[in-house]
Amino acid sequence: MEFAFVSVRRLMLIMTFVLMSASLETPVDAGTASSAKAKRQQVTCNSRRSECFLKPVTCPVECPQVKPEDPMAKACYLDCYSPKCEAVCRKRKPNCSGTGAACYDPRFVGGDNIVFYFHGRSNKHYALVSDTDLQVNARFIGLRPVGTARDFTWIQALGLLFGSHTFTLEATRAETWSDEIDHLRFSYDGTSITLPETHNSEWNSPRNEIKLERTVSKNSVTLLIQETLELFVSVVPITEEDNTIHGYGIPRNDSFAHLEVQFRFFGLSPRVDGVLGRTYRADFANPAKPGVEMAVVGGEDKYRTSSLLLSDCASCVFTPGDKVVSLLRQYGMLSCSSGVEDGIGMICRK
Ligand SMILES: *[C@@H]1O[C@H](CO)[C@@H](O)[C@H](O)[C@H]1NC(C)=O
Ligand SMILES: *[C@@H]1O[C@H](CO)[C@@H](O)[C@H](O)[C@H]1NC(C)=O
Repeated sequence: MEFAFVSVRRLMLIMTFVLMSASLETPVDAGTASSAKAKRQQVTCNSRRSECFLKPVTCPVECPQVKPEDPMAKACYLDCYSPKCEAVCRKRKPNCSGTGAACYDPRFVGGDNIVFYFHGRSNKHYALVSDTDLQVNARFIGLRPVGTARDFTWIQALGLLFGSHTFTLEATRAETWSDEIDHLRFSYDGTSITLPETHNSEWNSPRNEIKLERTVSKNSVTLLIQETLELFVSVVPITEEDNTIHGYGIPRNDSFAHLEVQFRFFGLSPRVDGVLGRTYRADFANPAKPGVEMAVVGGEDKYRTSSLLLSDCASCVFTPGDKVVSLLRQYGMLSCSSGVEDGIGMICRK
């Protein structure tokens, strides 16, 4: 696809509009948060694409607060991209059975809600999502017990590319696991981020396109990239029990601390690919069938990248960003299938 800009003036107008509407798209507190503990907060969405755009929505009685003081309590959650404009209760942690989850050795729940396993190799990288303006890679760690034909693997790190930025999120190695120690490490554009180890502590990128927040004081966060994705992440070890049940053969000196993640995407393109990404395409026929135990999906060759922050896999479609085009796409204003291009002074060529 190519885009020819027909009118620079009209483009400037659009940019003005995009920048004006580029405020938070997460639910914001309409009331004062912590002062009234049991009071039901109101939330809304600041994205024009949302059904809830600027509508005040009251939190359910069961979860009156957006950020409850008790990290174990369910939180009030407004999905700005659901057709229903309704606040619900959810734990601020990945739900390994929910849509967009990647947990265990790794087991995915696709955009089509079909559960499947992907067998990669340890110490290799794979594109979980590759779209025109978003790439999410995973680094696998693992081992191969003597006498088995493949590696057992877990997701140790995620590398995200969007526009001209990068973000990494890693589980640090833990010889023996302790809940009292934080095992998360982050970086933005190559610089490491310090996130205080307190419940609800928050980091924002300089231009606020990213928000990183602890949902428990240690080992659990959410990551929000404006209009692109939301991610729930926790670090967990392989427990003695898992080790015994599955016969992983984990050595005594490594707990194989790894990530459990759940993605939510806001506006993937019809070209989206990747181990998980392709399951969000409308035309995707999942080779894994619902109800089949241990359905394994291949693609090791198609999705392997040469590092955590490269989009060089055979099926990758990410193009590091022309900022303007990528912004317009992010805001749903540029899509060669939507037919809006002529309206905003652009021509779509095949
Ligand atoms: C996780 O997601 C599944 C599937 O949507 C749902 O049935 C289940 O209730 C969820 N679990 C929690 C704890 O929210
Ligand atoms: C952990 O133990 C294994 C043997 O069980 C050994 O090969 C390896 O070098 C040890 N690793 C470290 C970092 O101590």
